[in-house]
Amino acid sequence: MSGIDSILTETRVFPPSDEFRINANISGMDAYNTLCEQAASDYEGFWGKQAKENITWFKPFTKVLNESNAPFYKWFEDGELNVSYNCIDRHLPLLANKLAIIFESDNGTVTRITYMELYRRVCQFANGLKSMGITRGDRVVIYMPMSIEAVVAMQACARIGAIHSVVFGGFSGKSLQERIIDAKARVVVTANEGVRGGKLVPLKSVVDEALDGGGCECVERVIVFKRAVHEDAPWTIGRDVWWHDFIKGKPEHCEPTPVNAEDPLFILYTSGSTGKPKGVQHSSAGYLLGAINTMRWTFDYKPSDIFWCTADVGWITGHTYVGYGPLAVGATQVIFEGVPTYPDAGRFWKMIEQHRVSVFYTAPTAIRSLIKLGADIPEQYDLSSLRLLGTVGEPINPEAWMWYYEKVGGGRCPIADTWWQTETGSHMLAPMPGAVPTKPGSCTLPLPGIMADIVDEAGFPVEAGKGGFLVIKRPFPSQVRTLWNDPERFKKSYFPEEYNNKYYLAGDSAHRDEQGYFWIMGRIDDVLNVSGHRLGTMEIESALVANPLVAEAAVVGKPHEIKGESVVAFVVLKGPRPSGEEAKKITANLREWVGSEIGALAKPDEIRYGDNLPKTRSGKIMRRLLRAVAKGEEITQDISTLENPTILKQLQETL
Ligand code: WTA
Repeated sequence: MSGIDSILTETRVFPPSDEFRINANISGMDAYNTLCEQAASDYEGFWGKQAKENITWFKPFTKVLNESNAPFYKWFEDGELNVSYNCIDRHLPLLANKLAIIFESDNGTVTRITYMELYRRVCQFANGLKSMGITRGDRVVIYMPMSIEAVVAMQACARIGAIHSVVFGGFSGKSLQERIIDAKARVVVTANEGVRGGKLVPLKSVVDEALDGGGCECVERVIVFKRAVHEDAPWTIGRDVWWHDFIKGKPEHCEPTPVNAEDPLFILYTSGSTGKPKGVQHSSAGYLLGAINTMRWTFDYKPSDIFWCTADVGWITGHTYVGYGPLAVGATQVIFEGVPTYPDAGRFWKMIEQHRVSVFYTAPTAIRSLIKLGADIPEQYDLSSLRLLGTVGEPINPEAWMWYYEKVGGGRCPIADTWWQTETGSHMLAPMPGAVPTKPGSCTLPLPGIMADIVDEAGFPVEAGKGGFLVIKRPFPSQVRTLWNDPERFKKSYFPEEYNNKYYLAGDSAHRDEQGYFWIMGRIDDVLNVSGHRLGTMEIESALVANPLVAEAAVVGKPHEIKGESVVAFVVLKGPRPSGEEAKKITANLREWVGSEIGALAKPDEIRYGDNLPKTRSGKIMRRLLRAVAKGEEITQDISTLENPTILKQLQETL
């Protein structure tokens, strides 16, 4: 694989302190190696034992893994459980009065609820859903701000065996509509609005827009949580109901519905390289096991911890490490409504100080933006409660890693750089922090039972230092089961023929160093990673082309100091190529347009106009060249196969 050989040569190594290692759940490299060896020598025995010990089953499973219909793998398939029971009920005998959630609103108001209170709220909401006839297998779309209620809604679905599909509150009405239709949701749970950084974020009106867009006749009810501020939400009588009215008089006890281990727990839509978003479907037992194991392994969970994952519940990180993982192990967790920079860039650190957070998990993009706003700000706070830090979503550059390690972690907290995906459900490559020494910029080694490797086009492992495709060679419990409504795309996307349909292809390139450490290099497909969010270039292109002014569009990523990548669009208008003020006006319009088609997060940072796009003689857009143009690089590649070589000059000029 030419072109992706690594140039990184990071040599610093940070082993855990003796104190951390001695107290860790997995203490020392021998303990880590033993677990890996157990998994390698008796794969099913290893996972079977994990599932027996960590999950409370209503009906025990007798079979661990069924590979007969690969790649549609089944785990623990004759077992029965309930995920909400595992996250709440089983803790009540001992932990009823333990805090489950410390919720801090945008303006700093704090609400604390115990496991008992969480139980009551989940049961009431579940009873509400039940009373309108929602049952096992029905779909519920959740379009909520960060709130206790978002978690209650997820848990209530799990309690009655309904399948939730959380849609990030930043997606547009159109994106929401598309997801509601694909999932055929019977219910949408939302809030009148959200509050972030002192600003109101409309939610209910976006839901109305989605439902008015047509095709959503499946939706019987819209349940609206009143996030205080305004009361005059637009209302459709008979369909819309306030959350507080919906649960009024509902019993505070609701028997958990036993479901099969393989019953879908949720669908979460994510971007792929082509076409519509993919409905990643997760199982109940295997997914839960991944969440629990990684809370103990990667986050070294201890009952005394205060855990805080800053991800929104609209993303997989917010599912596994807000909605399920912390609750499944009986942790106290912080949930935050707002943004890291409001009212100032000390917000995260102030909250860590105030709530005595011990394990903190965030994204490199947040770290980079906070460094920029004032590298010394963390010093103003007492961060001595921290003992472990984590990152996720994109590669973390070594400088940001070092800042996080020193300024936030005081040089005493291991950093768990966790590589995983919506599709893997839980961490795959990450240090067990009491065992594995860390290196800035590396997600280190596979967790036990995760058979990760880096291979070439033919599926052969590549040697150390050489780039290749990141694959996982054996199925694992928390992996995606299928794509909702599209099993063929599932097979094609993740289990390519080149690897005999056996290896899970992650879509990332990576290399390994001499010690076997993994270094993620980036996506191999047309998926962008903007501020840790996955965006398909095709989706943005389709949105642009849907605008009446646009004839053709190509979208590429360009490295960005804070966001990781930014979105650059090359556009050919139906009319003449614009310039000056006119170009500015059209750019503003097109950015708004993409915002309303997909969501603000997909707005191009830069738009360039050409009379044409660089194409091969067979009509294929040369994205490689466009990437170079976007970066302002000199074109050194061979352009003799281009249909229209002069176009490059024009696209470069618009700098
Ligand atoms: C990228 C987020 C480097 C990667 C959990 C992956 C990372 C995609 C890391 C999945 C990391 C995630 N280091 N890259 N620690 N974590 N990625 O589905 O490209 O939103 O394929 O899941 O993010 O994004 P997703």
